[in-house]
Amino acid sequence: MTVLRDEVVQIQSSEDIVLVRQKVREWAIQSGFSLVDQTKIVTAASELARNALQYGNGGQARLEALNDGPRRGVRLTFEDQGPGIPDMQLALRDGYSTGGGLGLGLSGARRLSNEFELESEPGRGTRVKITRWK
Ligand SMILES: Nc1ncnc2c1ncn2[C@@H]1O[C@H](COP(=O)(O)OP(=O)(O)OP(=O)(O)O)[C@@H](O)[C@H]1O
Ligand SMILES: [Mg+2]
Repeated sequence: MTVLRDEVVQIQSSEDIVLVRQKVREWAIQSGFSLVDQTKIVTAASELARNALQYGNGGQARLEALNDGPRRGVRLTFEDQGPGIPDMQLALRDGYSTGGGLGLGLSGARRLSNEFELESEPGRGTRVKITRWK
């Protein structure tokens, strides 16, 4: 597998979430994603960026364009140095929210991705890595 391109975007405000969405859309288009697949990865990115801002006091998103033989993909890694997630299984449950939300961001992002990894350490932060293949 080859990383064709990568870029880091800081997430400190809601404008940054708009920027992440725009960039993920562009990268998905450049990887040849259908409109439906573009929307899936943009929606997942939006949820994870929002979580990093809302719960992680901001963080960063790394975008990577991947090539694996004939496959093209986009990998996104969201990282923050916030409080972390004490119970990841619970956080991934549909409808679980500590912030008065719908509790569908993490679980939705997982469903919209082909690969999903959640790592978190209480007191240290959270990292969510997702990949969507064309
Ligand atoms: N980056 C993070 N740092 C700390 N806690 C997080 C982070 N992301 C998610 N969580 C925790 O996991 C819960 C579930 O997240 P999820 O995105 O599914 O729902 P939500 O953000 O509460 O609501 P929604 O995204 O539907 O508006 C959050 O309420 C929060 O407690
Ligand atoms: Mg959320």
